[in-house]
This record gives sequence, C-alpha cells and structure tokens, in this order.
Amino acid sequence: MFYWRVLLALTSMKPERIVAIDGPSGSGKGTVSRGVARALGWALLDSGALYRLVALAARQAGVSLDDEARLASIASDFDVRFDLAEDGEEAIWLSGRDVTRQIRTESAGGDASQVAQLKQVRAALLQRQRRFAEGPGLVADGRDMGSIVFPAAPVKIYLTASPEERAARRHKQLKEKGVTANLAALSLEIAERDRRDMNRAVAPLVAAPDAVSIDTTGMPIEAVVERILAIVRERLLI
Ligand code: C5P
Repeated sequence: MFYWRVLLALTSMKPERIVAIDGPSGSGKGTVSRGVARALGWALLDSGALYRLVALAARQAGVSLDDEARLASIASDFDVRFDLAEDGEEAIWLSGRDVTRQIRTESAGGDASQVAQLKQVRAALLQRQRRFAEGPGLVADGRDMGSIVFPAAPVKIYLTASPEERAARRHKQLKEKGVTANLAALSLEIAERDRRDMNRAVAPLVAAPDAVSIDTTGMPIEAVVERILAIVRERLLI
C-alpha cells in the first residue's frame, strides 16, 4: 500500500491513465504510440527525442558525449518544446530552433544511445519525463517507460520485430523524411545501438515483467494500434 502511494506521488497523474510502450529501434514504437495517443486524445511522450536533444545540445556546445556532469546539467536545463507542425507531424524545438529533422538521423540516434548510458543524464531526465503525465492521459514511448519511468502504468507494451524488418522500416522512415541512408549500414548501426541499449548498466532495454509483448513483424501499423486500444479498453481505461 505504502509502495503504491509513493508511486502515485511520483507520477503526477493517476496511473490508470498511462500506456507505456517500449521496444528496440524500428519496432514501430513511434508511429504506434502516435496512433494510440491520437485515437485516445491523450498526450504523447517521445522520450527518445529527449535523449537525442541532450546529445545535440551537447554537440552544439562542444561538450564531449562522455562528460557526464556537463551532460547532466544540459539534461536538467535545456529548453525544449514539442508541438504539432501544420502537416500534423510532431515538431521539436531546441532553444527556439526547429531541430525536428536534425535529431531524426541515425547518427543522432547513435549519439543519443551514448548519452543514455550515463546515470546522471537518466536521473536528470526522469522528472522531466514524469511531468508529461498530466491532462486526460499519456502514451509514453521509449526503452524504460514501463520498467523505470512509469512503473505503475496499467498498460505496458513491449514491441518487437525481426531485425530485417526493423532496418527496412527505419530506412523507409528516413527516406520519407528526405534523409539519405544505406540499408546495409543502417542495419549495422541499429544492431550496435540495440546492443548498447540492452547491455548498459543503467535502465537497460528490457520488457517489464507485466508487459504484453507484441511481435509486429508483418503487421500493419493500424493492426498494432487496434490491438493496443483493445488492451486499453479491456483494462477499463476508456
Ligand atoms: O527511440 P529513439 O530511437 O528516438 O531513442 C534514441 C536512443 O535514446 C535509444 O537508442 C536509447 O539509447 C535512448 N533512449 C533511452 N531511453 C528511453 C528512450 C530512448 O535510453 N526511454
């Protein structure tokens, strides 16, 4: 009981209104989370973007990606804004500059996974992430949403897909955003990033014990969104 109260106090929203979606890169998390958030009319936390932004802000300030103390200070203070662009896509602003495209490259993802290994950076981003839990409800997308950031979330999903499909999806996504990428090189980069995310000492990528795993290989996005919405309904969230 006491433990439950502490968790409630830590997350400012009632836990019955949080859907935590975790999984490796290219598992479909981003698109699926956006679809679920839209369908429910809830807010979205793209936690990976926060790690990408810390790395970008560090690069802009000439801070090395292993300087834990300075990176943690960037993570606590950086000025970030998420909003919707005219085309309905997410737009991300760092210190008043639109960096949406810049943070989506695979090299920005690699930088993010380097800074994400650092304990002080994760600690600095923890409260920031929990502050997204306000309003009608939250769909939170990342690597440790169900295990660390929102451990009391009643719906936890772990998305996977075959390595080939994940690389192909990422490739398509980057192409659509006008970013050139080579599929073979991309596969290697993704494998390296996943290896780092799964093996790091702090908050490694794992399925929370109470998460529902969905293998999205060969599944259309809409079907994955529907499956999650069914779980949300079943657990009486809506
Ligand atoms: O999800 P996305 O590809 O934008 O994440 C970029 C990187 O940020 C991941 O590879 C991972 O290292 C890190 N990350 C994390 N914890 C999260 C979200 C992202 O460590 N909750």
